[in-house]
Amino acid sequence: MRRSPNAVRPHRSAEQADAFRALFRQQGDRLWNADRDVDWAAGSTIPAARRAAWLRMMNVFLGLEVMGLDTIQVMMSQATHQLRDPALNLYLAAQCQDEARHVYALDRYLTEVGGHGYLSTPERFLIERFGGMASWGFYRVENWLTSTLFSENFAALFLQQALDLDDVDPLAKQIFRLILRDEVRHVNFLHTILPQLIDRLPAAGRFYVWQSQLLLASAVALGLRRIKQDVADLGIDVDRYKSTLLENLDVQFHDAGLDSFLKIDTYAKVFNAVT
Ligand SMILES: [Fe+2]
Ligand SMILES: [Fe+2]
Repeated sequence: MRRSPNAVRPHRSAEQADAFRALFRQQGDRLWNADRDVDWAAGSTIPAARRAAWLRMMNVFLGLEVMGLDTIQVMMSQATHQLRDPALNLYLAAQCQDEARHVYALDRYLTEVGGHGYLSTPERFLIERFGGMASWGFYRVENWLTSTLFSENFAALFLQQALDLDDVDPLAKQIFRLILRDEVRHVNFLHTILPQLIDRLPAAGRFYVWQSQLLLASAVALGLRRIKQDVADLGIDVDRYKSTLLENLDVQFHDAGLDSFLKIDTYAKVFNAVT
């Protein structure tokens, strides 16, 4: 792994360094506390008929956050080296802290409701594969950040749709609102960093990232197929979820300048073939 002294070189772009600092300040301004800002004493209400599906979903969600936290810790110094911007470390440390808080809050939630241990071995395997794929091989900084754009959108949509359901545990809803606040900033960060990063990629690099992203999308689609029934049991319309996700990704890829090589139609084909 690249060592951090590389990261103390002068910034390549003062403008981008300012953007990272602004995001760092935003994180500090909107920082929440997982113990104090959630009313844990209010207790949890999970309808008995939906308990198993709900807890499986929450275990998947926690698994993805654990993986996200592990991956950001591996990738921080590599990304900072690649961009040669010390201000990037500043921001990523803040985002890393966000992910740690998400893991802590979801873990505490599952402990309080007695809901740990609902993941099967294949689900655990897929989550691990997802984390590995996002931070392995060539062009790993570009790959990691591009997969993050995908996964942050995937998670944010799940949170939004779960917040719209009437009988989702109010305790979980409190946590979801707080997590969503951070995930929106994480997407903003990707819009700040990705266009320039991708702009510098050679054609072979773009092709490589594109192939990796397709593999990753297939793994996510396989995961989605495994939890399809649980998602449906909770009252989330899986087809609508998929089409909204693809629409959101299409917009995001355009905004981040990725649409020239990440083809949304191919994502749609992968999703529809697997799920
Ligand atoms: Fe997170
Ligand atoms: Fe995040």
